Formats: sequence, structure tokens, C-alpha cells
Amino acid sequence: MRFETTAIHSGAEIDQLTGAVAPPLHLSTTFERDADGGTARGFSYVRDANPTQTRLEEALAAIDSAQAALAFASGMAASAAIFQALQGHVVLPADGYYAVRALAADFFPRWGLRHDFVAMNDLDAVRGAMSDDTRVVWCETPSNPLMTVADLRALAELAHSRGAILVVDGTFATPALQRPIELGADVVIHSATKYMGGHSDVQGGTIAFKERGELHRHVEEIRSHMGGVASPFNCWLILRGIRSLAARMRVHCENARAVAEFLASHPRVEVVHYPGLRSDPGHEIAKKQMSDFGGMMSFRVRGGRAEALAAAAKTKVFVRATSLGGVESLIEHRNSSEGPGSTTPENLLRLSIGLEHKDDLIEDLKSALE
Ligand SMILES: Cc1ncc(COP(=O)(O)O)c(C=O)c1O
Repeated sequence: MRFETTAIHSGAEIDQLTGAVAPPLHLSTTFERDADGGTARGFSYVRDANPTQTRLEEALAAIDSAQAALAFASGMAASAAIFQALQGHVVLPADGYYAVRALAADFFPRWGLRHDFVAMNDLDAVRGAMSDDTRVVWCETPSNPLMTVADLRALAELAHSRGAILVVDGTFATPALQRPIELGADVVIHSATKYMGGHSDVQGGTIAFKERGELHRHVEEIRSHMGGVASPFNCWLILRGIRSLAARMRVHCENARAVAEFLASHPRVEVVHYPGLRSDPGHEIAKKQMSDFGGMMSFRVRGGRAEALAAAAKTKVFVRATSLGGVESLIEHRNSSEGPGSTTPENLLRLSIGLEHKDDLIEDLKSALE
């Protein structure tokens, strides 16, 4: 089945008890044991598993072409659980999500992990950074916030040739546009707080595993012991979001294309980072591994920090806020959000392009840049 159909019909079996078409929301934290003490119905305690989460995980595995999936309380809880399952060396993206950088600095030494930051679009650099105990090449494509595109097929081949696995943070692309496991990756994580939820009203994180093997088992055990599990209600909201993901992504992409073209021709814009632009260095690889280019972009305003902040202060439709993937368009001075230690250029503004009319978005940016 095609993606749209899978996203609507997976984890969607009719409720046996009532015939309900929409999935029931089970809030129970505990489940009756069998007379012999067993759990033949599959559930005992909410932190280990619950029926709403199981439905979501079925859908997550199906839409990412994976054998198994796990839902977490947030994207960071999902990422941290993978790192906690490892020992040895990890190659991280030089321009990835900043909280992963903070996690590496503050927690990796305690977890027995070493790391190096590398530009993931430079295969020689990735090769050079790997050592005999490299367990994971971790990549984000397109990356946050510079929209760098990494070649997933090549990275998977490289990681595997050295006995490592490729983990991909696919939050920006979503499984509707890019399915890393089909390209050779071993694990895909998403912040479901973004496009999967889709309405800026739910927090969650997901991991899809190419194989239902030892890593999946270990990460599930970490989730159960550490408790970073998603609440049933959040699982229910994320599952609902997945149903309309493909349709929403089509409009996010269409609007983003129009906004990127407008910005690219604006005299006050130094550069637009959007892989959908033919001039973007990641365009050719993105075309091969994504079915469209997504709703995220960033651009640099001519001048510096003050000029970028002034432009962001003037928008009326774009809301000045962090996060992404909701129906409303957001504008963010990323360097301010990341704070001290940020490697993001000071004149960069990140845009999450929503589902408003594209002409309203363009007019809003036009007047903000005047
Ligand atoms: C690319 C990417 N990965 C992971 C995360 C972390 O997700 P969460 O905020 O749900 O913990 C984010 C959050 O912005 C992100 O942008």
C-alpha cells in the first residue's frame, strides 16, 4: 500500500468491544492479571506498555518501513534512550539539533560514550572520524537549522563497512517525504512534537527500528526503567496526527517552495537554506532521497544579529516562537534560542512554514524585510 493509505489504516483495527472506528483512548495505568498471575491480554502496567501506545507503535513501524517502533515522552527522551543503550564512540552531526550537542557534552562521559562532531555531507570527514569502536553514525537530514542534506545511502554503506549503525533524525522530513530505513539506515528517530502531532499541542518522540532485534529490546528496557514513556493521551494525539500527515506535508511543501523562491530573490536576503531550491548544495541528493523538500527552511538577513531580530519582530502572520511542524507559521532567531555556545549564524532566521495561504506568508515576510 502507498504511504497515505498505510498512515491511515495502520494501528486502526476496529475496536472489538464497541465497533468504534476511531481508536479508543485507554487511560488505565494498570491492567487486570489472569487468575494464574499471567498477562495473556498483553498489558500489566502503563510504563511498560498500554493499548493506545501499541496502536501508535504499529503505525510508526508501518510508516517508516520498520519491523518495530517505540513511542517516548519527547524527541529528546527517544534520542537519549538510544545513546544510553550504547558504549564506545559516536559520530554526531556538526550542525544538528543543539540539545543533542548539550546531551553529548553533559552526559556522554557518564554513559561511557565518546563523540566527535562532523559535517555529515562530507563523507571523507565522516570516514576520518570513525574508529574501531564507533557504534553509531548519527545524522540529521535535513539538519536543524542549516538544512544540510546528508547522503543516507552513502552514510549507511560507510557505517556498515566499519561495523557501526546509521541512526537518522528524520524530524524535518517526516516519513511522508523520506524513509531512511528504505535507504539503508538502521534506526530512525522523530520528534513527534513537530509534524507528526502537527498542531503544536502534543509532545512526543519516536524510534523506528529496521529490525526487531537486540537494540530494540535494550531501548525498550531503558524506556521502561527510566520512565521516558509517552502518556496514552499523547500517543492518541500523535496517532491522530499521523492520519493527516501526508496531506499536511503536501501543503507545507507547496507553501515552503513559494516562500523560498520569494526569499531567494529578495535583496535583503544573503542566502536561503532550503534543499528545494536548485541552487542549494543539498538539492541533488535531497531529490534522490526525499519525495519533496519539506516545510522547514532558514535564511540569512543581510547585516547581522540586529537586522535579523528586527525582521522577526515585524511579522504579523509568522509567530515568533521555537518548535516547528504545526499548522501555523513560525519564525525564530535560532541563535537567541540556542543561547551561549550556539554555532548558528547570528543573522539566521529559521522558518517553519505552516498551512496558511502562501501569498499571506510572502506578504508578511515582504513587509517585515522592508
Ligand atoms: C531535529 C530535532 N530533533 C529532535 C528534537 C527534540 O524533540 P523534542 O523537543 O520533542 O524533545 C527537535 C526539537 O526541536 C528537533 O528539531
